[in-house]
Amino acid sequence: MKAIVQETYGSTEVLEFTDVDKPALGGGELLVRVHAAGVDPGVWHLMTGLPYLLRIMGFGLRVPKVRIRGSDLAGRVEAVGNDVTRFQPGDEVFGTCEGSFAEYACAREDKLASKPVNLTYEQAAAVPISAFTALQGLRDQGRVQPGQKVLIIGAAGGVGTFAVQLAKAFGAEVTGVCSTAKADLVRSIGADDVIDYTRDDFADGTRHYDLILDTAGNRSLSHLRRGLTPRGTLVIVGGEGDGRWFGGIDRLLRALILAPFLRHKLRGLFSTERQEDLQFLRQIIEDGKVAPVIDRTYPLNEVPEAIRYVHQGHARGKVVITV
Ligand SMILES: NC(=O)c1ccc[n+]([C@@H]2O[C@H](COP(=O)([O-])OP(=O)(O)OC[C@H]3O[C@@H](n4cnc5c(N)ncnc54)[C@H](OP(=O)(O)O)[C@@H]3O)[C@@H](O)[C@H]2O)c1
Repeated sequence: MKAIVQETYGSTEVLEFTDVDKPALGGGELLVRVHAAGVDPGVWHLMTGLPYLLRIMGFGLRVPKVRIRGSDLAGRVEAVGNDVTRFQPGDEVFGTCEGSFAEYACAREDKLASKPVNLTYEQAAAVPISAFTALQGLRDQGRVQPGQKVLIIGAAGGVGTFAVQLAKAFGAEVTGVCSTAKADLVRSIGADDVIDYTRDDFADGTRHYDLILDTAGNRSLSHLRRGLTPRGTLVIVGGEGDGRWFGGIDRLLRALILAPFLRHKLRGLFSTERQEDLQFLRQIIEDGKVAPVIDRTYPLNEVPEAIRYVHQGHARGKVVITV
């Protein structure tokens, strides 16, 4: 089968579009014919092995443990392992796996759910990691409540476009922070208000939010806290940083260290791939309350271009690979 393979860490030059064996199917796994695979900033981190913290966390100290890149996938089940009970060949699924930039991938049964009936494969592949992150940031870390004022920083990005829609679905009053050209997009997905960060500062002292979900821009924690109500919650999701050891994770770690000493609630999110969240997302998508926003699609052999585009940090929603 065709796949995007890397043997060493590095920039997109280490990626090879080549033929490899189909992955071997384990007992609790499904072999999926991949039709589409999502791209997010995490792909660049796993490709480069940066920040180094990732390598220590188990992704491979000197070379990547998993040679084929890509995590989000949507496709059709080709075969099921002996222990699989919930799926059968022919089922349309979406979820996460190791190595989705390939014609076939093996995924654990508990990492997949039935594809939302109202989505194409491309749209479904855009959902898992970005929507998990938005959901867990708002619901689990942010404890979002109906009627709360919620600020989404990076509202036009992969995580942000899901976060705006999910926060609205949870009954919040939502303000999105993005650049000028993306204000219409952020309004179109349901934001009640938009702040153009190239002109206005949300933390200028005139407005305060019960919950801030920060996905972009690397603003200091003190700056972000100026935008909170006295008992408000700040959830640090991401934001790309240059540090080779911690990258953008340093702010997240600082938030966790500072949290016990402050009245504001400071939270850092490490999102996890949960089947019940995938099912929650499928339902809310089928109910028409959330829909993926696709910026661009690229064919499998153009994965390097797709990764470079996402790494520039100005995506309008999600980038997807069609296979
Ligand atoms: N903690 C976790 O578990 C977890 C999980 C997934 C992702 N992440 C991280 O979360 C971050 C966002 O991911 P993503 O997939 O949403 O990235 P993305 O698709 O690249 O989106 C980034 C967005 O940030 C906006 N942006 C850039 N600079 C900004 C600024 N100064 N102020 C406000 N917005 C700004 C960009 O829009 P403009 O063009 O308008 O600037 C773009 O739409 C990344 O750092 C990623 O690594 C963390």
